[in-house]
Amino acid sequence: METPAVAFGETGRQRARAADERDPLAEFANRFDVPGTYMDGNSLGPLSADAVAAVEHVLDEWRDYAVEGWTDADPDWFHYGERLGGRLAPLVGAREPEVAVCGSTTANVHTLVGTFYDAANGGNAAHADDPGVVLVNELDFPTDHYAVRAQLRARGLDPDDHLAVVESRDGRTIEQSDIERALQEQDVDILFFPSVLYRSGQLFDIAELAALAHEYGAYAGFDLAHSVGVVPHDLHGAGVDFAVWCHYKYLNAGPGAVAGLFCHEEHFGIQPALAGWWGHEKETQFEMRQTFTPAANAGAFQIGTVPVLAAAPLDGALDVIHEAGIASLREKSAALAEYLVALVDELPDAFAVGSPRDPARRGGHVAVEHDEAARLAAALTDRDVIVDYRPPNVVRVAPAPLYTGFVDVHRVAATLRSLHESRAYEAYEPPSGVT
Ligand SMILES: Cc1ncc(COP(=O)(O)O)c(C=O)c1O
Repeated sequence: METPAVAFGETGRQRARAADERDPLAEFANRFDVPGTYMDGNSLGPLSADAVAAVEHVLDEWRDYAVEGWTDADPDWFHYGERLGGRLAPLVGAREPEVAVCGSTTANVHTLVGTFYDAANGGNAAHADDPGVVLVNELDFPTDHYAVRAQLRARGLDPDDHLAVVESRDGRTIEQSDIERALQEQDVDILFFPSVLYRSGQLFDIAELAALAHEYGAYAGFDLAHSVGVVPHDLHGAGVDFAVWCHYKYLNAGPGAVAGLFCHEEHFGIQPALAGWWGHEKETQFEMRQTFTPAANAGAFQIGTVPVLAAAPLDGALDVIHEAGIASLREKSAALAEYLVALVDELPDAFAVGSPRDPARRGGHVAVEHDEAARLAAALTDRDVIVDYRPPNVVRVAPAPLYTGFVDVHRVAATLRSLHESRAYEAYEPPSGVT
């Protein structure tokens, strides 16, 4: 997809509008309720008519069937998490049984890291002579570290000794050579990395990292929160051992939507660290045995009853994504981000692009750096340009391809420029709390 030539003012706007007219995905925006110029879909995607319809369908069936809905609803609720997993599989490059929809990203980090850490240590890391480390990085979203540390503590281990952290050289990105050195120098049991860094948007090469981890005898696990729905994946082909992600960002499945996970089929039958009856082999689940037989698929990592209402919007949201096609979405997303980077390059020197320049190394969002990023983010939001701020100096801008266009990207850059020149951002307090 061609990006418009960079210009500010009316000329720039017209070029952006012309590019939007050529955009084959432009019509998808009509399916969403998008508040203002919405550049925060990597935090919370907006509501689509499709998601509403999917929720209404489940509400109707709840009214009509009550408890019979577990078997008689269409689709039945008993297999709801597995069925949605099957629908997600093409987005992450998995076989259908390798994906399940359950829990939250963080809960799924707990169970999968715990499971694979035990597997790397003879089935129970608490009783291993010399357990290795879990390798993460300094720029991770914090919940990943909280969960891994808690899993280590639960096995009587000191997280300071068993969580190894690859440091960043520039505060923005992680060098692959530093990851490789950590794997060489330490006894790594699990490499647990994000697909895309939440602040700078750096996109890792999952296939390369998985191969590297395996070369050093480690499992490879990934947090795909910032890439699922906007970057295609090939988890099965890359031999990834496990992955987790959320659906409230580019999947647009709603605030706190039920999360997703992947377990490579070669690990089917492994004992989940956090077992529960919903992960039991489905055929015998209602025989109510007191011993746990894990389902022979990713559904084994479910813990309790699938929250059907909280999962329903994902069903509708997936209709939209599949209709658009993940390859086309990635292409448009890369073009929008490329255009944004080119515009930011033309802004005063107080602005910098904090994301990788190579589109192949960048996810769906762009980090725009400025010393007054917090106030700028508040001023933008007040002007209906919805972005978020990430400390210490990043305005995160996510032009999500389903409902934003080049004109929207142009508006973000033009508003940044005018706020900087007028210093109007000085009137704003930095945002606090959830952004
Ligand atoms: C990389 C990453 N992991 C996890 C989370 C959040 O986890 P949860 O969905 O459990 O709240 C986020 C939230 O933005 C994230 O960016």
